[in-house]
Amino acid sequence: MSAATTIALVIGSLREESINRKFAEYIVSQLPESVTVNEVNIADLPLYNQDYDGTTIESYERVRQQIKDADAVLMVTPEHNRTMPAALKNVIDIGSRPYGSSVWTDKKVAVVTASPGTYGGRSSGLDVRKSMQMLSAKMMISPEVYLSHATDSLNEGGVSSERTQKFLQKFASELAKFAENSGV
Ligand code: FNR
Repeated sequence: MSAATTIALVIGSLREESINRKFAEYIVSQLPESVTVNEVNIADLPLYNQDYDGTTIESYERVRQQIKDADAVLMVTPEHNRTMPAALKNVIDIGSRPYGSSVWTDKKVAVVTASPGTYGGRSSGLDVRKSMQMLSAKMMISPEVYLSHATDSLNEGGVSSERTQKFLQKFASELAKFAENSGV
């Protein structure tokens, strides 16, 4: 594993007590020390407007640069009304423009979803994959992670279910390889 592997972490929930943040924290804790994780703050991003192309918006430049600099991007996100949250779609749109300068082209991207519900936020994860495919990103194919009944796997200390821990450890190991491997 090269010492320089960097993962940009995007959490699709803006909520302070986000369950997705708790799963993201667990995944990050399971990555090898050689991987550096930088969180991309999406809470302060103005809603994307094509009229802003050609102007400089500091927060847009910040997130575009963070994504550009990363070997891979990990998105950990809830599902809102059967798709990805607006805040996550916003950073995807911001990164995709101005036309011809997308930061997503050939970018390695992995997605994890979690929900207290039965479907684990799968529609959200699949919609992220759909957008990323259109943007010519390189999606991590497997393992697919859609954590259903996700609150059952958590306690005050974080991820408490041994089964979920094992699954996320396997995911973290595959993610590190995916981020590191320049041939992907
Ligand atoms: C939800 N939630 C939800 N859950 C789901 O599995 N499918 C869905 O379509 C939706 N839709 C939805 C819309 C909106 C506006 C909200 C606020 C919530 C429930 C959601 O999974 C739950 O609130 C999670 O706790 C959200 O994740 P975070 O914010 O805790 O990480």
